[in-house]
Amino acid sequence: MNQYQVTNMIYIVKCVILATTVPLVAGHFGYRKRDQHTWVQNFKLCDGKLQSPISISSFKSITLPLPALEIIGYHDFLSSPLYLKNNGHSVVVNVNNHLGKRLPYIFGGSLDINQEYEVDHLHFHWGAKNNRGSEHMLNGIRYPMEMHIVHRNRIYSSLSNALNYKNGLVVLGIFFQEEDNKSLYSIVNHLTSVRWINNETKLNTSITLGSLLPKNTDVFYSYKGSLTTPPCNEVVTWIIFSMPVPISFSQLNKFRLLSNGNNLIADNYRKLQNIGLRKVYIRKLNPHLFVKYNEMTFNVADLDWFWH
Ligand SMILES: *[C@@H]1O[C@H](CO)[C@@H](O)[C@H](O)[C@H]1NC(C)=O
Ligand SMILES: *[C@@H]1O[C@H](CO)[C@@H](O)[C@H](O)[C@H]1NC(C)=O
Ligand SMILES: *[C@@H]1O[C@H](CO)[C@@H](O)[C@H](O)[C@H]1NC(C)=O
Ligand SMILES: [Zn+2]
Repeated sequence: MNQYQVTNMIYIVKCVILATTVPLVAGHFGYRKRDQHTWVQNFKLCDGKLQSPISISSFKSITLPLPALEIIGYHDFLSSPLYLKNNGHSVVVNVNNHLGKRLPYIFGGSLDINQEYEVDHLHFHWGAKNNRGSEHMLNGIRYPMEMHIVHRNRIYSSLSNALNYKNGLVVLGIFFQEEDNKSLYSIVNHLTSVRWINNETKLNTSITLGSLLPKNTDVFYSYKGSLTTPPCNEVVTWIIFSMPVPISFSQLNKFRLLSNGNNLIADNYRKLQNIGLRKVYIRKLNPHLFVKYNEMTFNVADLDWFWH
């Protein structure tokens, strides 16, 4: 091989490694305004009509007596070791090798009947200041942090495979609000070990996913959208809980010390996307609605999402 071929080979190997270890992070992208404008040049899907995040308004959402979201295995301690990794865009906890046991999964809610979604990983978006950080906005509020718990439809063998199907993923969106509390202790405790890009560390305390959820998961918004990072595939059913989870000021500050090698990682949220013709549904338990819709015949398959 000549010099050119060797360089090319190294480039290909690098791409393969990137593609297999961090499937949601395709190549390089930045969050500064001028960087976000260039996403569409390298990732055509980012220019689609069903992009995320969006601004959600409870007044404009359609209230429905949806079934509860069933959350299975979220209260068990995760058995295999969990790794926390700084990928240069965020900090990620991978949950996709739950040795010998079924992965925690969700079904019900706004999801199609008989579709089960297993946990793959979770990650965070946060701001440099407390007045920003979340990707979605709710009733005009931008929270200081938003956690995404990414789930893959069980019928697809891997996350990268699921990215090709419009029912491939469900992401639970969870807002954090500054308040003195410690639900994130086991993760925050290890952030100093993953300060630099590609640092990875094993969590030394077991966590339950349930401990990261809001106390009340009865009320949630749901709409059809996309990954909020390139390649922006429009394969995500979003479920956003209306109740935030508390996080302390000092915990938030520990996220703000993470670095991608050049800069601190903060303001790693995508700008708002047009909602277009899409509908946002809200699950609320309102006795009048149950009468109006007759719970027994309510069929999620009849929901009109304006999905292609
Ligand atoms: C803080 O967390 C504790 C223990 O998890 C809980 O009992 C308490 O109600 C929480 N406080 C707030 C304000 O959420
Ligand atoms: C877990 O790791 C953290 C951070 O490295 C450390 O402060 C803590 O003492 C460790 N806890 C145990 C139980 O080993
Ligand atoms: C984190 O990355 C830095 C820079 O690459 C390296 O010097 C350090 O040893 C790494 N730390 C851990 C815990 O992997
Ligand atoms: Zn995300």
